[in-house]
Amino acid sequence: MAQQMTVPAVRARKASSGADPLVMLTAYDAPGARMVDQAGADLILVGDSVAMVVLGYDDTLQVTVDDIAHHTAAVARTRPDALVVADMPWMSYHVSVGETVQNAATLIRAGAQAVKLEGGRRRLPMIEALVGAEIPVMGHIGLTPQSMHAMGGFKVQGRDARAALDLVDDAKALAHAGCFAMVLEGVPDLVAARVTGTVDVPTIGIGAGPDCDGQVLVFHDVLGLEHRVVPKFVRRYADLHTEGVAALRHFAADVRSGAFPTVDESYRMAEAEAATLGLYGVA
Ligand code: KIV
Repeated sequence: MAQQMTVPAVRARKASSGADPLVMLTAYDAPGARMVDQAGADLILVGDSVAMVVLGYDDTLQVTVDDIAHHTAAVARTRPDALVVADMPWMSYHVSVGETVQNAATLIRAGAQAVKLEGGRRRLPMIEALVGAEIPVMGHIGLTPQSMHAMGGFKVQGRDARAALDLVDDAKALAHAGCFAMVLEGVPDLVAARVTGTVDVPTIGIGAGPDCDGQVLVFHDVLGLEHRVVPKFVRRYADLHTEGVAALRHFAADVRSGAFPTVDESYRMAEAEAATLGLYGVA
């Protein structure tokens, strides 16, 4: 049996110290969490991407703390060896420090071992309060989907030198405030490499090139569970949508032709009991 992953163990996984890259995948329910854990991921992220890939919304802004808690609890019930990180949804850490800590506590009580929140230096008071309440925090900078309106869409960040240096400063501030790791999303590879070389906590990239301390992708994207257009940084390792539709078509055809269910797939009454009712089973 693999060892239970912990926050200090993740924090120690800097590639520069010879550690293996961290593997993080999203999962939103029990079967998904079991698959990710059996695949040997180090971390399971109950991402607010659940809004788009499971709940059918166009962006991540629609999910609430209760939604994330519901999905976190399903993941945590599987008792994975991977560390369970729950995303703090939009508006759950933007209003006041007190509300932020209460909302994070809801996610921890649902079974998360850490929370993730988006944004740079302006989130420092919230991060410091969470760390002060013994709630481990993963940062998330670069393309932060909860800022899609402010950013003018899902756009790569840190493309010019000034913006890149700003990102480095954000990363330093998050690490200094006590984040045990941080996601770098949608930034040029050289910028991600600079950030990774600057902070002493692991960076986990998504659309941030190969030089981060780990990588994260969304479960549904890796498995090809949908045929939506995926960004260039996604690699599909399976086409479960096609396979799934074929299997479901096969089921429908079997029902319509009478090939499903068979006697072996049916419950039988004892012959003597059936006889008293004047019923006779299929030989
Ligand atoms: O919600 C999510 O899936 C994420 C990852 C893309 C990092 O935040």
